Amino acid sequence: MTFNEFNFHKDIEKGVKIAGFREPSPIQAMSIPIIDNGEDMVGQAHTGTGKTAAFGLPILDKIANGEVERALILAPTRELANQISDELYHLGRFAGIRSLAVYGGVGYGRQIALIHKGVQIIVATPGRLKDLYRKGKIDAFNPEIVVLDEADKMLDMGFLDDIQEIIDYIPQNRQTLLFSATMPEAIKDLAQMILYDPQYISVVSEEEEETNNIINQKYYVINESQRDKAIEHLLESENFDKALIFCRMKKEVDRLSEYLSALGFSVVGLHGDIEQYERERIVKSFRRSEVKIMIATDIVARGIDIKNITHVFNYHIPFDPQSYVHRIGRTGRAGKSGIAITLVSTEEFNELKRIKKEVGADMEFSVMEGGKGTLSDSEYRDLSDKIREMEIDENVEKIIEHLSKIDSTEILKKALTIILKDEKSENGASIGYDYLSVKDMIDNLDSEKKATRNNNRRKKRA
Ligand SMILES: Nc1ncnc2c1ncn2[C@@H]1O[C@H](COP(=O)(O)OP(=O)(O)OP(=O)(O)O)[C@@H](O)[C@H]1O
Ligand SMILES: [Mg+2]
Repeated sequence: MTFNEFNFHKDIEKGVKIAGFREPSPIQAMSIPIIDNGEDMVGQAHTGTGKTAAFGLPILDKIANGEVERALILAPTRELANQISDELYHLGRFAGIRSLAVYGGVGYGRQIALIHKGVQIIVATPGRLKDLYRKGKIDAFNPEIVVLDEADKMLDMGFLDDIQEIIDYIPQNRQTLLFSATMPEAIKDLAQMILYDPQYISVVSEEEEETNNIINQKYYVINESQRDKAIEHLLESENFDKALIFCRMKKEVDRLSEYLSALGFSVVGLHGDIEQYERERIVKSFRRSEVKIMIATDIVARGIDIKNITHVFNYHIPFDPQSYVHRIGRTGRAGKSGIAITLVSTEEFNELKRIKKEVGADMEFSVMEGGKGTLSDSEYRDLSDKIREMEIDENVEKIIEHLSKIDSTEILKKALTIILKDEKSENGASIGYDYLSVKDMIDNLDSEKKATRNNNRRKKRA
């Protein structure tokens, strides 16, 4: 199938061509005719498979043809609102369509002025948009189409009330669309509330396969105290172009950024406590590959599309399965392959099992490869110096006497091995657990659980 079959306005066709899109992705092929037809819909498709253009292109086409004047897109984060606005601008610019990102953390003045100047598309986070409606600043902006991108995340973040309030400001004869890679049950209630007789389109075959399996997923089982060393070793041994490391907490982002910077890695840290202006600068520097590693909280887990992220690392396994799906989905986009690596401590086995089960994550158990193997020049110099300065223990004389019968090179090699092992005790091979010990631990966990369940049953019966 080609994009020609949709008969888009020629200016929109030009935008598609310049973007380099050759054929529509499955979610695009299925959604575009429905949206063209004016129907409400709920769309689910894996991360990185073009959902933005799936709703964006038919909206731009309708605006270019004069069928529709304005559209509103809601997204959970400022970064995502900016990105969607940029993408729609690029696809629609030959038709002169203007879009604006509207979010908190920056002044109202400029946003209000731009809205009044006339934009056809607003991409907003719910909180700021609700404020603007309350202030009566965008009453005239009556969108005929409303999209909720990452709808489930907005519910998760507690935006339900804001969304309802916003929807109340908008005429009922609107067309409403809802998109995400994950569709937990709560979404169905939201859909019933704000959509009219929607079509449900899912490219995800089974509910249990929400993770995009184009991504190669691995996990390492480590001790809690080994996380930093493990990340350091993986960054050294994995051949990455750009890497995104997810942490659970803001202070963990700051600490790990400092740790890796001190080791000489090119890193930036991003989380919600950073000033908006700075947040934008940080994302830009990572987009432009000025820095190769970004360490972040879940604020960039949803929807963010940054070229050449070859690796996603989970410093901790995420609490909920949806977060796992979206985090790893920052790689393996637009048909490109990607690698997702998760560090799991023995205390996190329950989360691991839930993620595997609930979203069909195909995670492969892995073991760190043994250290660097060879010495660098400076390590060799340090070691030789140490040996030269060493005092010889008197017992050594006696041992030497015995050893004189064995080949001397052989002895030297073995002695050096002992020293090296001592010096480089934190090489890859010493980080984490091997397959058999992990299997034992998981088996034990299972039998412990069974025992508790049986116990509880027995107690209940008694
Ligand atoms: N038909 C297409 N052909 C080639 N590339 C495309 C096509 N459609 C979209 N893309 C590109 O694919 C990438 C991913 O698209 P997009 O961000 O819309 O994914 P998504 O499905 O919304 O993912 P997520 O669930 O993470 O938000 C973008 O860089 C986009 O420009
Ligand atoms: Mg998206």
